[in-house]
Amino acid sequence: MCGIVGMIGQVNTKEILLKGLEKLEYRGYDSAGLAFVNDGVQVFKEVGRIAALREHVPAEADGFAGIGHTRWATHGVPSVPNAHPHQSTSGRFTLVHNGVIENDEQLKAELGVDLLSDTDTEVVVQLIEKNFKATGDVTEAFRKTLKALHGSYAFALLDSENPDVIYVAKNKSPLLVGIGDGTFNVVASDAMAMLQVTDQFVELHDGEMIILTRDNVTIQDLEGNILERAPYTAEIDASDIEKGTYSHYMLKEMDEQPAVIRNIIQKYQNEAGEITLDQSVRDLVLGRDRVYIIGCGTSYNAGLVGKQLIEQIAGIPTEVHIASEFGYNMPLLTEKPLFLFLSQSGETADSRAVLVEAKKLGHRALTVTNVQGSTLSREADATLLLHAGPEIAVASTKAYTAQIAVLSILAFDLAKAKGKELPFDLMKELALISSAMDTVMSQKDRFQEIADEYLKESRNAFFIGRGQDAYVGIEGALKLKEISYIQAEGYPGGELKHGPIALIEDNTPVIALVTQPHVHLNNRGNVKEVVARGANACVIASEGLDLPTDAFVIPMVETLLSPLLSVLPLQLIAYYAALGRGCDVDKPRNLAKSVTVE
Ligand code: G6P
Repeated sequence: MCGIVGMIGQVNTKEILLKGLEKLEYRGYDSAGLAFVNDGVQVFKEVGRIAALREHVPAEADGFAGIGHTRWATHGVPSVPNAHPHQSTSGRFTLVHNGVIENDEQLKAELGVDLLSDTDTEVVVQLIEKNFKATGDVTEAFRKTLKALHGSYAFALLDSENPDVIYVAKNKSPLLVGIGDGTFNVVASDAMAMLQVTDQFVELHDGEMIILTRDNVTIQDLEGNILERAPYTAEIDASDIEKGTYSHYMLKEMDEQPAVIRNIIQKYQNEAGEITLDQSVRDLVLGRDRVYIIGCGTSYNAGLVGKQLIEQIAGIPTEVHIASEFGYNMPLLTEKPLFLFLSQSGETADSRAVLVEAKKLGHRALTVTNVQGSTLSREADATLLLHAGPEIAVASTKAYTAQIAVLSILAFDLAKAKGKELPFDLMKELALISSAMDTVMSQKDRFQEIADEYLKESRNAFFIGRGQDAYVGIEGALKLKEISYIQAEGYPGGELKHGPIALIEDNTPVIALVTQPHVHLNNRGNVKEVVARGANACVIASEGLDLPTDAFVIPMVETLLSPLLSVLPLQLIAYYAALGRGCDVDKPRNLAKSVTVE
């Protein structure tokens, strides 16, 4: 969602900010803008891609300080007036914002000034100006404004009268300050945007502000108390966030999956090849009487698979909940619940809202995330990292498989700690799966053919399966709808007869997974039922369960872990279906990678 960059002190600010905005493109946006301050402020905004903004900014435009923004519309349509930065009436203050101000209507009424946009952000910058007029002090005006706001924000503010400072603040939305070489400092929504100039970052906590100059970072709380915080080194290799020779990040990230599984094995095993989890994680979970997995989107789908792993291997009852629903539909909690947050980004606002509530109730929380130092990681009692490397494409692929692999490791570790009999050698199985993933990925061309044969002309598609295949089907349907805009639904095979079968017509594509030995015949029965009604059935089966008419055969792996492998064909089918339709695979319309508003 909205992304922020800012820089102070270096010539060439414009190029660094534009590059930073390009690195934030993956978060999803519909318009973008930049502002520079030197002698006065210059503001440039465009609807659409950063490339359009780049063309719109004159070659000579630059500044000693600058801020930039990618906007994902919440208040008002994507348009130039609604794009950030926003300015106060006098033009003295210029602001970019990520988040949602909940009391903007009330503040607007109190301000009584005409606004040029429909945004909550413009209300804030006007309030800063009003408070400045009353106090004569910019820091005080900014602080007073922050205190009046309800909601989420990450802000970067320029003062045209003082190019030597950028004012920064955060509440619930992510923001980091990057430390330069003494001649400059930067600010960004995530480290990736500014790895081009630094790998040293300082976290900003909720309710804090920063006065940023070229050679100084002053952190304060909203009472003006100075806070000390040491920088940390972002452990991301700048080359990890480049596409290299790939045409799309999604293709690169799908291809990385075998290596990610091998990396996870390495990170979570000791020299004797046994699973090693931090004792703090084990202590956190053992003795809990139920696990409540919380997630959104693909992470929620990975949770559905993870529930089977934790229940069947570790013997701990587990529920999976969509984060945005949890607040109002909170289940009856057991006496000793453990909240397990699944989130690639570690920043999803809905998941974070549940974490805040769970902590308020005194419950324990474990976060499984790809981003070290992310909000969900910082605020939980313990973290398990996915070690998948940055995921840039909006449609999540390698994070899904990494989440399942890490949850399987957690399930085995807990089972071992509880003295339970282990059903198979997990690390050996994961190694076999990573090789099987290589085998599937080496046959990519076949999925191009499958996408052409089954999905080229279709408006809708169904995914069916039983056991773990049902959950993978739901993820396959999500991938397809996200990037190709084909309406797609994933259903347990047995549920077809209770509704969806009414939608089956001649040539309706039905993608069926058959990887679960204990229920394969039942799902074959469901395939026959849809074929009898004209469906174009595309069966993906495991070796040993396959038939000559199947579209693709994948190696047979452990039944419980099969989603790690069976999801790959579905990811590839979605990818090629989207390519075939000329869709923007990495940046699908309306979607954001990191959903930082509730
Ligand atoms: C967005 C992304 C999805 C992701 C979901 C949850 O919708 O587009 O790919 O699965 O958010 O994100 P998280 O970072 O919490 O896993």
